[in-house]
Amino acid sequence: MTKVFIQTYGCQMNVADSDEMFAHLASRGAQYTENLDEADIALINTCTVRDHAEHRAVSFLGRLAAWKQEKPGRVIIFAGCAAQRLGKTLQKKYPFLDIISGAKEIEHFADTLDASGLFNAPGKDTHQLASGLTGYVTIMRGCNFACSYCIVPSVRGPVKCLPTEDILADAAQKARAGAKEIMLLGQTVNAYQFENTSFADLLNQVSRLPGVERVRFTSPHPIYFTPEFLEAIKDNPKIARHVHLPVQSGSTKVLQEMKRGYTREIFLEKVRALKSCGFNISTDIIVGFPTETEDDFKETLSLVDEAEFFAAYCFKYSPRQGTPAAKMKLLPQNILEERLDILLNKVRGLSDAAYQAQVGSVQEVLLESENKGRASGNFWVKTRKSYPVGSVIKTSIEKADGTLLFARD
Ligand code: 5AD
Ligand code: SF4
Repeated sequence: MTKVFIQTYGCQMNVADSDEMFAHLASRGAQYTENLDEADIALINTCTVRDHAEHRAVSFLGRLAAWKQEKPGRVIIFAGCAAQRLGKTLQKKYPFLDIISGAKEIEHFADTLDASGLFNAPGKDTHQLASGLTGYVTIMRGCNFACSYCIVPSVRGPVKCLPTEDILADAAQKARAGAKEIMLLGQTVNAYQFENTSFADLLNQVSRLPGVERVRFTSPHPIYFTPEFLEAIKDNPKIARHVHLPVQSGSTKVLQEMKRGYTREIFLEKVRALKSCGFNISTDIIVGFPTETEDDFKETLSLVDEAEFFAAYCFKYSPRQGTPAAKMKLLPQNILEERLDILLNKVRGLSDAAYQAQVGSVQEVLLESENKGRASGNFWVKTRKSYPVGSVIKTSIEKADGTLLFARD
């Protein structure tokens, strides 16, 4: 039996893409293994959003040289965003690499496998990785924005929304396989529109599928959160009350230079509107964008205070080749480090504060083990009693300790 080892870097889109690629390998007779030593195929699904992410993926590839030498019949597949960016240059540097499949080619991965001549029969039935409690469902690929720091549009291409029917079939299949929660994925997921189906329609439709207890989505773009959207989903408790909403900067001037399409005020307005529907909000922030002054950075700090995020992922600006911002003069590295440090200090207490604020509230908890689960707002909750995994209970919160809530029941 051919065994495949999978190493995935980057975002949840990549996790879903790895699942999809595995399904094609499985239909050609491969079995999943967590042990690289016993694998015949190594699939590396890569990220290039920051230099560091790309570097990790490429150094993993470098380490596979010895693995391949041990048994020359082994197959190495390098896929995803870094594969798209680096393309054929990789083949020269790593001649032992068998298949390169860029992020734009994921949809044609089956053809790539067949064209490689490394696999015997084209597959018939597709097997998927055993679905856990969360089923990941890609609803759109690519991005139509052109944020000046971001390499995603060039490696993933423009937006292509998947047909609603296919998405519903995929989600229903995952629910039948045991998923209680469906996570809808896309680079600007809430820009989804297919014929007459809007993102809000899609959320409501997925939430009505048999077996689906909760629907999550990531990552949305602030500008698509409209009053109409909120109106359409506000009475649907199955839509999880957590949104990961990247802000990137708190300075309107920097946001304009980043070409984000909103101001600080508009972002804060969206935050208020989402909070009024009970949403708990986390974010991404970049420090040290080339034009960021001390004052701009202070605006980011004050926005963090105002928005009261549940969590914030903070990154040092990393120039990406071919993006407009890559032509700008970089700030000194020590400034980036200093600002990251200050910001990390500020965001450190955010989750704790958000957890404390839940004491006394009533939460709907989806059990991920017998006595621990996640609330709709993404808080971890420990229960007193034991419940079947996958069940949903409603309970009030007695206390919070760090990033754990303790339930009455
Ligand atoms: N430098 C640093 N961070 C970046 N991100 C995207 N591009 C860059 C870059 N060039 C961050 C953004 C995005 C997250 C996925 O990665 O914050 O939301
Ligand atoms: Fe990159 Fe901006 Fe598109 Fe997000 S919206 S993927 S940051 S270009």
